Amino acid sequence: MFIIFLMTGNKKIRVPRAEFDYKGRPCSIISVGGYVPEKILTNAELEKRVNTSDEWITTRTGIKERRIAAKDEFTSDLATKAALKAIERGNIKPEEIDLIIVATITPDMPFPATACLVQEKIGAKRAAAFDLEAACSGFIYGLEVGQQFIISRTFETVLVIGAEKLSSIVDWEDRNTCVLFGDGAGAAILRHRENSHGLLTACMGSDGGKSNLIVMPAGGSKNPATIETVNSRLHYLKMEGRETFKNAVTAMYTAANEALRRCNLDVSQIKCIIPHQANKRIIEAVRQRLGASESQFFVNLQKYGNTSAASVAIALDEVVQSGKINRGDLIMLLAFGAGLTWAAAIIEW
Ligand code: ACO
Repeated sequence: MFIIFLMTGNKKIRVPRAEFDYKGRPCSIISVGGYVPEKILTNAELEKRVNTSDEWITTRTGIKERRIAAKDEFTSDLATKAALKAIERGNIKPEEIDLIIVATITPDMPFPATACLVQEKIGAKRAAAFDLEAACSGFIYGLEVGQQFIISRTFETVLVIGAEKLSSIVDWEDRNTCVLFGDGAGAAILRHRENSHGLLTACMGSDGGKSNLIVMPAGGSKNPATIETVNSRLHYLKMEGRETFKNAVTAMYTAANEALRRCNLDVSQIKCIIPHQANKRIIEAVRQRLGASESQFFVNLQKYGNTSAASVAIALDEVVQSGKINRGDLIMLLAFGAGLTWAAAIIEW
């Protein structure tokens, strides 16, 4: 493996290149599930909380409403509901699950892992469990990590979940961020299958040099919780939106191209592209650069806003349930988030 540097505009993105035969990985996504909380928060309601407007939010982001979890509904609860749907559709028993990976930036608590709480709630008594933190790219990272355990024959059945209660870390006084995010969860079950369809490649990257762009400054070892950190509102998500926007377009475009190159595919061969649902303008810019058609891109951000690690997982569930995808179709997952992290995966469904 070696590293190439791709120049896009004035941005430089590192992409790990690999020359493997990606066909015939013995791992399938056998089922998916999704869950969003019942409570809907509309742009009109946000107009009453901060100095914003439905017009600004719609034209700048495409978001019309988002879901907000109940006070007593935690990330593990959202994850559990999505997981149970995937388990039912996959026609498996929770005891058959060997590993649970929960991708999240809003765990119920810093520890124990939310994955352990989900394990108990779904009754997956045999499973190992851990959380994975790659922000909005977390679900795609999780799929690839889960698949690696299956390819190595360490595990037979892996449950991967992207789940977030972002409403718990959003600063409801900051109009720059509070209009963007929502809560929800999506899940996928991976299983060993010889000569199966599955994840053909996952092209992942990160740039810690830009870790300051999206950050929750306090609550970790750097700034443990104190009265001062609370008063300074350091336990909320902070984001430099414009800079994040530019990096998101470049990174997702570059990762998508590399994933296509690895699989020797042209973008026109992809039936459905499922991007991270952060902003319709980001999605549109990536679509245009890739030369893909509007009908290839799946967008549901108008209903849910940005649900970080849950975003691609919820969208994948909606695409599959809509019947739009048939076995053998090619799907591309694309994401970008805090870290910075990014990922592009191609699935043969
Ligand atoms: N309502 C009204 N005005 C607003 C609002 C609001 N909710 N928010 C910001 N503004 C104002 C700003 O104050 C600014 O005013 P000024 O020009 O007087 O200073 C103006 O609107 C423009 O602000 P920008 O930040 O330049 O607006 P931009 O067009 O960049 O849109 C946005 C902002 C939507 C945040 C965009 O930059 C974006 O989507 N960024 C990427 C976010 C993303 O992809 N995040 C992914 C990772 S999230 C994660 O990892 C958890």
